Amino acid sequence: MSQVLKSVPASDKIDTAGAASSEIAQALVHALADTQVLLFKTQAYHWNVEGPLFYPIHTLTEAQYTDLFAAVDDIAERLRALGHLAPFRLKDLTVQACIQDRESLPSAEGMVKDLATDHEAVATRLRGAIDVAEQGGDPVTADLLTTRAMVHEKAAWMLRATAK
Ligand SMILES: [Fe+2]
Repeated sequence: MSQVLKSVPASDKIDTAGAASSEIAQALVHALADTQVLLFKTQAYHWNVEGPLFYPIHTLTEAQYTDLFAAVDDIAERLRALGHLAPFRLKDLTVQACIQDRESLPSAEGMVKDLATDHEAVATRLRGAIDVAEQGGDPVTADLLTTRAMVHEKAAWMLRATAK
C-alpha cells in the first residue's frame, strides 16, 4: 500500500521563541477545554430553553456558540503552530475544563445565570494563561488569549444583563 496515508501525527520542535513551552501548551489546552465544554453547554441551553424569553435567549446563545465553535479551531490550531499536538479525546477536555455539567436542566433564568458564571470563570482562567504566555515570550498566544478573555467578559455582561 502507498505510504501517503501512513503519517501518524507527532509533535514538532519549533524554533519560535516560547514554542517549546509546555506551560504555554497547557494553558492553551485549558482554554480549549473550557471553550469546548462551554460550547456544548451553550448549545444545549439554546436547544432546550423555554418560556417568554425563549427567542432572545435562543438567539443570544446561538451567537455565543457560533463564536465558541470558531474559537475552538483557533486555539487548537495555535497549539499545532507551536509544534504541539491538539487533544484528540473528548474526555481529556472535559476533565480539564473549569466548567461543570449540570445534572438537570435549569430554568431559563438559571441557564442565563449559569452561562454568565461560566464565562466569568473562563475569563478568569484566561487571565492566568495570558500571564503564562507573556512570561514565556509568546505575545502571539497572549494576544489570542486576550481576545478570548474580552469575548468571554462581554458574553458574561450580556447574560447578566439578560437575567435582571
Ligand atoms: Fe440553532
